[in-house]
Amino acid sequence: MTRGAVFGFLAALAAATAQTAATAQTSLERGRYLVDTVMTCHNCHTPKGPNGPQFDKALSGGLRFDEPAFDVTASNITPDRDTGIGSWSDAEIRAALLEGTRPAGPHLAPVMPSGYYKILTPGDLDGIVAYLRSLPPVANKVPGPVYKLPVSHQVFPGAEKPMSASDLADKSKRGFYLATIAHCMECHTTPASSGTGLDFQDSLGKGGRQFPGPWGVSVARNITSSKRAGTGDWSDDEIKRAITQGVRKDGSKLKPPMGYPFYAKMTDGDLDAIVAYLRTVPAKE
Ligand code: HEC
Ligand code: HEC
Repeated sequence: MTRGAVFGFLAALAAATAQTAATAQTSLERGRYLVDTVMTCHNCHTPKGPNGPQFDKALSGGLRFDEPAFDVTASNITPDRDTGIGSWSDAEIRAALLEGTRPAGPHLAPVMPSGYYKILTPGDLDGIVAYLRSLPPVANKVPGPVYKLPVSHQVFPGAEKPMSASDLADKSKRGFYLATIAHCMECHTTPASSGTGLDFQDSLGKGGRQFPGPWGVSVARNITSSKRAGTGDWSDDEIKRAITQGVRKDGSKLKPPMGYPFYAKMTDGDLDAIVAYLRTVPAKE
């Protein structure tokens, strides 16, 4: 073999090995990865104690959102038949994720980020359902929802349909996929002046939304590619540190509710893809 042929052979072998490693991840493992890291389901659905999330009661219901339009509590999504989603069919779970519907009763409040999940590939969606089914059932009855005003269901632009395999092979498009299911832009986009939904048209990534909590009030920051107002002049590592450790370029600490500890468990390749996508977000001052 010539040197070129040897190199070609080794490259093909490495690619084949990477392929096997990727397919070796079962659907359930893929679902676990998505739920426990990038999609930050625990950030809302796992009860919080004085020392943070109570993982012994993982996903059994948690955060309450008492807002002008509704007063809802993140549901128990463990397979407990009485207080969780143990009696739901796979199709009903998929519909809750994609459409924000439940088998009986009104549409889910938009805090449940279902407007960001239609982009999920069928394989990833099945993985999420398989993982939820595999959780230990936890009996925990959360207070029922109260809806005060009609709720609107806004689908994130670009997330209308499952992403294709060819798009997922492109780094920044895969970053868009991950940032979408991580619902980054839900927090980092300004509410529309019309009063319904967020202004993705003119304020994507611009920041400004306020998040009150035990930490005081945090204000989502500008994460567009603007060098002046956004993260355009941050290095890749600085952006990754902000996402995974909640530390800014200047070293200061970021406040909740962004799910830093969950994003921290993402693979480096996935973080790189998210950074590549952020670099493409048009600058907003
Ligand atoms: C930002 C907070 C938040 C995140 C993140 C979130 N959810 Fe939810 N979810 C909620 C809230 C709040 C409700 C209840 C809304 C209501 O009652 O109208 C809900 C409802 C649901 C329901 C309906 C259950 C029922 O009994 O009605 C399912 C299923 C669900 N979420 C699954 C998930 C999964 C899986 C993830 C991660 C992939 C996730 N959620 C991420 C807040 C969140
Ligand atoms: C639940 C809401 C929420 C979600 C989801 C969210 N963020 Fe944030 N993010 C915030 C808030 C609020 C701040 C500012 C906190 C502070 O200033 O203390 C912030 C800060 C940041 C910063 C620091 C910017 C700066 O100038 O300091 C970056 C970078 C960032 N977010 C990127 C992301 C990315 C990428 C995602 C998705 C993977 C994401 N965020 C998801 C709410 C959120």
